[in-house]
Amino acid sequence: MRALLMALVAGSFVVGGPGFAPVAAADTYPSRPITIIVPFAAGGPSDAMARVLGERMRMSLGQPLVIENVTGAGGSIGVGRAVQSPPDGYTISFGHLGTHVANGAVYQLKYDLVADLEPVVLLPSNPMIVVSKTAVPATSLKELIEWLKSRPSPATAGTAGAGSGSHIAGVYFESVSGIKLQYVPYRGTAPALNDLIAGQIDVIIDQTSNSITQVRAGTIRAYAITDDKRLASASEIPTAEEAGLKGFNMTLWSGLWVPRGTPKEIVTRLNAAAVEALSDPAVKKQLEGLGLEMTPQDQLTPEALGARQKAEIAKWWPIIKAANIKVE
Ligand code: MLT
Repeated sequence: MRALLMALVAGSFVVGGPGFAPVAAADTYPSRPITIIVPFAAGGPSDAMARVLGERMRMSLGQPLVIENVTGAGGSIGVGRAVQSPPDGYTISFGHLGTHVANGAVYQLKYDLVADLEPVVLLPSNPMIVVSKTAVPATSLKELIEWLKSRPSPATAGTAGAGSGSHIAGVYFESVSGIKLQYVPYRGTAPALNDLIAGQIDVIIDQTSNSITQVRAGTIRAYAITDDKRLASASEIPTAEEAGLKGFNMTLWSGLWVPRGTPKEIVTRLNAAAVEALSDPAVKKQLEGLGLEMTPQDQLTPEALGARQKAEIAKWWPIIKAANIKVE
């Protein structure tokens, strides 16, 4: 059936009648709302970026972009849902380094992250940020690491599930600092952050865009960011190297994909709408205010996202497999 559907879509003609779902031809696309599957809970960094983008992409596509949060298993359930969708441009997969790279090394996925998806556009990126509940008696990264090492049992670290960006960042933090963490999986880092603010968990190695507002409000404490330069929007937070921890450098980039077999003209339409949204000064201001770095102009093609994803798979899979991450 899928092969038949792909043939229909590839032929870009509309087929009616019993047994066939009408397949919108590329030249009338989009003729109905488009779904963006965000594989994490509402209110988190992925959800926030998808909503900002979707709202602005609507202006050039002329159809609403509806966010559907399909959570669980480090984001791999939501990506799987997108992979299984008809390749007609009406389902977009939002994801990032965790879901579209790391998950492939952590889970026995029923899909291939490269072969079963078509890249659309590379989205803004941000470093990770080490944050703790305010009750932790540390005022620097060095003191935090000492405190973590002194725990009788491993401190708790909130993540968005095994293989998520926050989980991979936690494993990376353990490997460069010699600490040990006990991971607490959530359906996204929005619910994890709520528990950090409430003091229910000890730390998160979070996307900066998710935690920065709460850091500024003083409800959680920040220690360092995993970049080689400070953020213009949060210049008071040192890099991990400045805070005394070498080799902790991680940028979490995001992207949009569609199921393999989506007509090229539709991929081009979606890419153009996303590039227009990212060039909008209001969108830029909103995302940069959260500590996100806009995608360089020469990295906005679908091919650039495809190349980034493949390069990151080559870099991270050996590291993740060596860490022998077990899915609880
Ligand atoms: C993660 O991988 O940590 C996700 O970005 C969490 C989220 O977006 O909720």
